[in-house]
Amino acid sequence: MRRAKEEQLGGATQFYSTPSWAVHRLLDVHPLPPGPFIELGCGVGGIVRAVNSWEAWRDGALVRPYASVTWTGFELDRRIAQAGSNRMADECVDIDVVVGDALTVTATDIQARACLQNPPNDLAEEFVLKGLELAEEVLVFQPQQFYASSGRESFFASHPPDWIYVLPDRPRFAGASGAMQCYAWHCFSRRPTGMTRTRRLGLTDKALRASEFARQMRENAEDFGSSEARAEAPEAAE
Ligand SMILES: C[S@@+](CC[C@H](N)C(=O)[O-])C[C@H]1O[C@@H](n2cnc3c(N)ncnc32)[C@H](O)[C@@H]1O
Repeated sequence: MRRAKEEQLGGATQFYSTPSWAVHRLLDVHPLPPGPFIELGCGVGGIVRAVNSWEAWRDGALVRPYASVTWTGFELDRRIAQAGSNRMADECVDIDVVVGDALTVTATDIQARACLQNPPNDLAEEFVLKGLELAEEVLVFQPQQFYASSGRESFFASHPPDWIYVLPDRPRFAGASGAMQCYAWHCFSRRPTGMTRTRRLGLTDKALRASEFARQMRENAEDFGSSEARAEAPEAAE
């Protein structure tokens, strides 16, 4: 994001929640395996809560296919982790939130079927590699510059995503300012097909996007206080 990192909630840890609609458009086209799932840098559960709330028609009934998945979330900032635990408990998400550095988690600590994440932009490669240690499938929400980067030539040669799902509506993140960027879901597998396919995701109604932004702004104010208070340094894990 263009806003100085230290001005954001979470400061250098780069906290801003993924809008639920950005996750829902992915799930509209990309089925996930059965759980357990993990999220590295889970924030207040933007992705987890969206997966939990996603609805689909099955045999003539509207159901929430991932509502009973078991999750483990890792979050560096203790204050954000606490707010996220409370929010996810309110929505009956079955999650264990661990406070600490997700990049130090090892494969003997946990193994999952899928890892979803929206990591700090400058740590995205490390988060993908850590995700692949811990889960069979890793779905990463990042600006399109993540892929369109000459500096990542060898990384993407060694780790070609199976899918890149481009979101046609640019997300606006509560708690971060600056120009809105194009985002995509980058889907990696431990057994990559070797052929990266691209698909354009569906559009999301403008009013729905606006109401999601307002909801996240309201929650941030409730959980962390005024925007001035939010600019304070994060309370990192010991
Ligand atoms: C861009 S936010 C995304 C939050 C959430 N995943 C979502 O999509 O709504 C990145 C999150 O990762 C956390 N984070 C940054 N570095 C981390 C690390 N090394 N280990 C665990 N969490 C980290 C930040 O505090 C922040 O909450």
